[in-house]
Amino acid sequence: MLTIEHSKSKYEQAKKHLAGGVASSLRASMKPMPLYAESAQGARLRDVDGNEYIDYLLGFGPLILGHANEELTNSILAAMRKGYTYGLQHDGEIELADLLVDILPCADRVALSGSGTEAVMLALRLARAHTGKHKIVRFTGHYHGWSDSIFTSFPGAGLSESVTSEEASSVVPPGTMGQSVNSLNDIILLPWNDPDVLESTLRSHASEIAAVISEPVMCNSGCIVPKPGYLELMRQLTEELGIVFILDEVITGFRLAQGGAHERFGIKPDLVTIGKAMGGGIAISAVAGKAELMKYIDTSAVSHLGTLNGNGVATAAALATIRELAKNNGSSYRRMEELLVSLSTGIRVLLHKHNIPGVVNQIGPVFHMMFINEHEVNDFDTFNKRDAGKYAKFAELMLSEGVLLRPNGLWYVSTAHEQADIDETLLAIDRVLGQLDEAVY
Ligand SMILES: Cc1ncc(COP(=O)(O)O)c(C=O)c1O
Repeated sequence: MLTIEHSKSKYEQAKKHLAGGVASSLRASMKPMPLYAESAQGARLRDVDGNEYIDYLLGFGPLILGHANEELTNSILAAMRKGYTYGLQHDGEIELADLLVDILPCADRVALSGSGTEAVMLALRLARAHTGKHKIVRFTGHYHGWSDSIFTSFPGAGLSESVTSEEASSVVPPGTMGQSVNSLNDIILLPWNDPDVLESTLRSHASEIAAVISEPVMCNSGCIVPKPGYLELMRQLTEELGIVFILDEVITGFRLAQGGAHERFGIKPDLVTIGKAMGGGIAISAVAGKAELMKYIDTSAVSHLGTLNGNGVATAAALATIRELAKNNGSSYRRMEELLVSLSTGIRVLLHKHNIPGVVNQIGPVFHMMFINEHEVNDFDTFNKRDAGKYAKFAELMLSEGVLLRPNGLWYVSTAHEQADIDETLLAIDRVLGQLDEAVY
């Protein structure tokens, strides 16, 4: 039985002056309640009640080196001792830009920002400036941050959860109250992984469409991989029709490979947006891409702003994280993938053993586990048939077993995880699946 008395009283205390009691709305969804961390090291996190967890939430993705990685911490501390942010330029920005251009196959040049949301805002702006067109094609089930001009169709964003692909073709629902409906007038919302719909829409609206933005893998809704040839078609059509192709690699950048999903898949988009894993847990993001698009920033024709952009702490964190990941020819990627293959395979075996229908979609060091009566989940509409309540209950029960999960089903692994953590996790899953059908949710 999980004791969370200290977390409970802190949550009550927090709600008094901190709106919502949490600093990002998504964190409120944790069951039985948002927990309070006391400290974390490697693959383990300890809460304020002294419970210790193997962590697969990993700060919602960025902690690819685990918590409090020695090299990363030392680099951050060394940078801090020289001052945090200058409002002037410094070597860290140059070094990081050079390194990103070296590693990312699509990058001629880069721009630095603070969050994935800001990187996406900049990428869309560059695309509109370059093409002189205004519409943006995006896909149901993808997430590109919470700015008004793109926020819609995100599972967990409330209003949009119930919108099917068919409905979405006629209405682009706001993702939140308080969002101007007009801000989505430029959005064309399409089902993902449907080549025919993509081709007919792009051909018939080519004169208005500035950009297509897509996650390379639909990590935010089921970790669904692109059908063979789908991203290639996206590349080919956008090139032919004068449309900017943006891959949103905020999750997949530095997670699926050093050069992200576009390296792994051998696709060259015009722009990529990168965040999360790039900073190892410190706020930093980037837009990288073709010189002919990035040049609009040179003359400030496209404004790219942000008080803390490229600050010394953030660039030191990104440089240290990327260099750690690059060691031994990037061997940590193979290790993380092997660990996650053993975990996802083990989970499938346990689902079968307990006669619980479910699917685990894995690619590289990330997977999505869901309870669903289907053999495969390859599109957003099928993903929406999952039993989200059952999974939230599962994640809650896993806490009592010492495993911290994201309540929506997405699991991350870090370089700090070991096979022993995976083995311990599988034993915990076995026990929890054994009680899941009796659990009330
Ligand atoms: C694919 C994708 N793009 C953009 C974002 C927004 O990033 P941030 O939360 O850093 O603003 C996210 C966040 O989860 C994401 O998954």
